[in-house]
Amino acid sequence: MNFKKNILCIGAGYVGGPTMAVIAYKCPQFRVTIADINPARIAEWNSDELPLYEPGLDEIIRATRGKNLFFTTDIQRSIRDNDIIFVSVNTPTKMFGAGAGMAADLQYWEKTARQILQYSESSKIVIEKSTLPVKTAQAMENILRNAHSFTFEVLSNPEFLAEGTAIKDMENPDRVLIGSRETASGFKAREELVEIYANWIPREKIITSNIWSSELSKIVSNAFLAQRISSINAISALCEKTDADIIEVARAVGMDSRIGGKYLNSSVGFGGSCFKKDILNLVYLCRHYGLNEVADYWEGVVKINQYQQERFTLNMLTAMFNTLADKKICLFGVSFKANTSDTRESPAIFIAKKLLEEKAEIIITDPQALRNARTDLAGMEGRVSFIDDPYKAAAGCHAIAVMTEWDLYRDLDYQKIYDTMIKPASLFDGRNIIDHRRCHNIGFNVYPIGKPALTHF
Ligand SMILES: NC(=O)c1ccc[n+]([C@@H]2O[C@H](COP(=O)([O-])OP(=O)(O)OC[C@H]3O[C@@H](n4cnc5c(N)ncnc54)[C@H](O)[C@@H]3O)[C@@H](O)[C@H]2O)c1
Repeated sequence: MNFKKNILCIGAGYVGGPTMAVIAYKCPQFRVTIADINPARIAEWNSDELPLYEPGLDEIIRATRGKNLFFTTDIQRSIRDNDIIFVSVNTPTKMFGAGAGMAADLQYWEKTARQILQYSESSKIVIEKSTLPVKTAQAMENILRNAHSFTFEVLSNPEFLAEGTAIKDMENPDRVLIGSRETASGFKAREELVEIYANWIPREKIITSNIWSSELSKIVSNAFLAQRISSINAISALCEKTDADIIEVARAVGMDSRIGGKYLNSSVGFGGSCFKKDILNLVYLCRHYGLNEVADYWEGVVKINQYQQERFTLNMLTAMFNTLADKKICLFGVSFKANTSDTRESPAIFIAKKLLEEKAEIIITDPQALRNARTDLAGMEGRVSFIDDPYKAAAGCHAIAVMTEWDLYRDLDYQKIYDTMIKPASLFDGRNIIDHRRCHNIGFNVYPIGKPALTHF
């Protein structure tokens, strides 16, 4: 079959996989290839057992794979055969040398740019989909400028999807942002990408900007989202001291239309691969430009998140008579949020490690993320087990800590669970999703976030 466009994405991760699958699904006239250096990941994408859980993804992959969506490790050929190349490789926080612990590690990006240069046999549009520091496109252009007989136009098209709702977000995004150089060739390339999205997204939702605004907007969006979580979490600590109730406060505050009600749920803290790294990147960038006050302001968002996780663990320790040694604690959920298998930067992993340091025995249950959690906690000293069934996981435990807001945990039979636990049985609700009063009536000592504890002491 002759396809109208050949599109490549380098990087078959949480962003590359779902975004390209949706493009293939919405645009059967295009051939979409996803290439990755990790053969195990590509093999999983080509199997019935996808490498990640995302609602709706299975169906879309089944409808497109082998028809106009292809997964491959053959990067050389893929670059040669495609004229539109998205790059969605990982950009983790740099852990060595200058900027360690703050700056973005751009080695994967640079390697990709060099591969594109090496294997290209024609002009291409190269699209930054990874989240990158402002001015990365310039570095990209400087590498690609070394081609002799053809040209590369670099665009920025940051991805705003959220894991757990990735397919919905891709199908019906709040906006798509495309940044380009403000030159004739930049505008032309930008228009070509607009045309791709316009296959299913209304034009007024596809916005364009200069390339630096586009790069910065992604990091700033994540910083604002994380800031809201840290703001409400900071107030949850005050609620616990004053007997105010964070849910009542959040409702009252969120009903102000200037503020809005979203992202005001207090919790054990935000996780995921992006918020922390992107804010640290913003902090690093501000310090680089001598904007120390601005850097300090944003760094506070990360510090409060860390504080919230430490506070939660300390509250558990205090509530359980200041010792967790040999106590069995069941973690309900280990993914960093509901509806994903992703455990990167998950508060549950941090808390699991802290509990192990306190010599507690931990039992982890989760509907999708146990495989990742096993890898995250491999080699940790202490007793950890992983059990699919939450009833079996909680049996014989001294406490349950709700770590992830999976719907499943709202509706469990807590009487049945209580009956199998060691007494006094504690329930620490790190997501405020359980019916606290009901569980207290059953017999639990209940410790929500930002609300008075309900105990029997
Ligand atoms: N995960 C999210 O929710 C999310 C949302 C928006 C934006 N982002 C951004 O998107 C980017 C990708 O994130 P992710 O979560 O998909 O990461 P990921 O780690 O899940 O996937 C990245 C993939 O790139 C591959 N890769 C690395 N170097 C390569 C190379 N030279 N050639 C081919 N493949 C290579 C890796 O093997 C990996 O499979 C990051 O910059 C991230 O900040 C992520």
